[in-house]
Amino acid sequence: MTRRLLNGMEVVQMDEEWIEKAKKKHGMFKHGMVRILPHGYFYGGRAPYFIDKIHTFKFRPDDVIIMTFPKCGTTWMQEIVWNMIYNPNLDNPQAKTSIFLRSPDMSQDMQFDGEEVDNMEVSEFEALFRKIAPDKDPEEGMLLEILDKMEGRRVIKNHYPLCLMTPGLLDKTKVIYVIRNPKDALISYYHFARVMKLFRFSGTLEEFIDDCLKGEVVFMPFWPHVKEAWSQRHHPNMLFVFYEDMKADIMKELRSINTFIGTNLTEQQLENVAKFTSLSAMKSRGDPIDKRNYKTELMEGDTVYMRKGQVGDWKNVFSPELDAKVNKWIEENSKDTDITFNYGN
Ligand code: A3P
Repeated sequence: MTRRLLNGMEVVQMDEEWIEKAKKKHGMFKHGMVRILPHGYFYGGRAPYFIDKIHTFKFRPDDVIIMTFPKCGTTWMQEIVWNMIYNPNLDNPQAKTSIFLRSPDMSQDMQFDGEEVDNMEVSEFEALFRKIAPDKDPEEGMLLEILDKMEGRRVIKNHYPLCLMTPGLLDKTKVIYVIRNPKDALISYYHFARVMKLFRFSGTLEEFIDDCLKGEVVFMPFWPHVKEAWSQRHHPNMLFVFYEDMKADIMKELRSINTFIGTNLTEQQLENVAKFTSLSAMKSRGDPIDKRNYKTELMEGDTVYMRKGQVGDWKNVFSPELDAKVNKWIEENSKDTDITFNYGN
């Protein structure tokens, strides 16, 4: 029987044979893996349940949703927006707590179903969830409940694409979509998948990118996610931001975010935010994640969410063969869009 989401999209379960093969290199989910058609979005088996909940989730007009494909600058933008709203004078002690509690991830609930992740060990979320919803079952979505009960202006992280959110989302609330050139994003994703228990990726960079290009890594495919947001870039409630532009001139991007979310900060306050959210400042405050989620040791000086933060590092990493393969993928997928990326050339 075909399973359908509330939005009418079809859900296809990956078969056992595929799972057994993929398991050798990738982390899997207790409820298996699914694809959501027509784009083929690839998620853990509980994602349809949570996506249906998001379909009817109550967004508020003053919410700011940070929507991204993973590894494109989500955490940086979360810190920027949260600090613009709640800490422009750098005097809010809350700012040193985990950004994942100050800016919860709407797409995280399905990730607690990872085979290697002991859900209830994800202590910081569970503690908050138990406090705000003592009678509820965490299986119904801890993060969705935390977000629902959150007071004040919400800064919401989310990796799901526009088409899997509430219909008419952009008419209800503001979305900041952050994107990055896919070559650097894929490398960043590989390093992340290597160290996180949920992914526990054990192959090479080439193998990881091969699987990404086939759409067989959680959250893939990249292109429909980006193209859909790009097609909405002129909507008054959508701010489309390139990671590379943030790297090139952060003050310029902060000014446009300031106007977009209506925070009316002064130049001095924007300077404060820029300083507080620089890569080195964020690294010095440490990772926003429970260390029990790590699988392997990190490279020296790295954290899980803050690593090199460079534009064009792929040039030091890709072999000519890998670059040719990725270029072909980019070319094939760029035919019907006018979005162009800065590859640091
Ligand atoms: P690299 O792995 O290339 O270093 P996300 O938050 O979406 O997971 O993205 C993570 C990427 O953003 C990582 O890229 C990380 O280093 C980079 N990043 C995080 N904070 C940053 C900051 N303050 N400035 C620049 N890049 C940052």
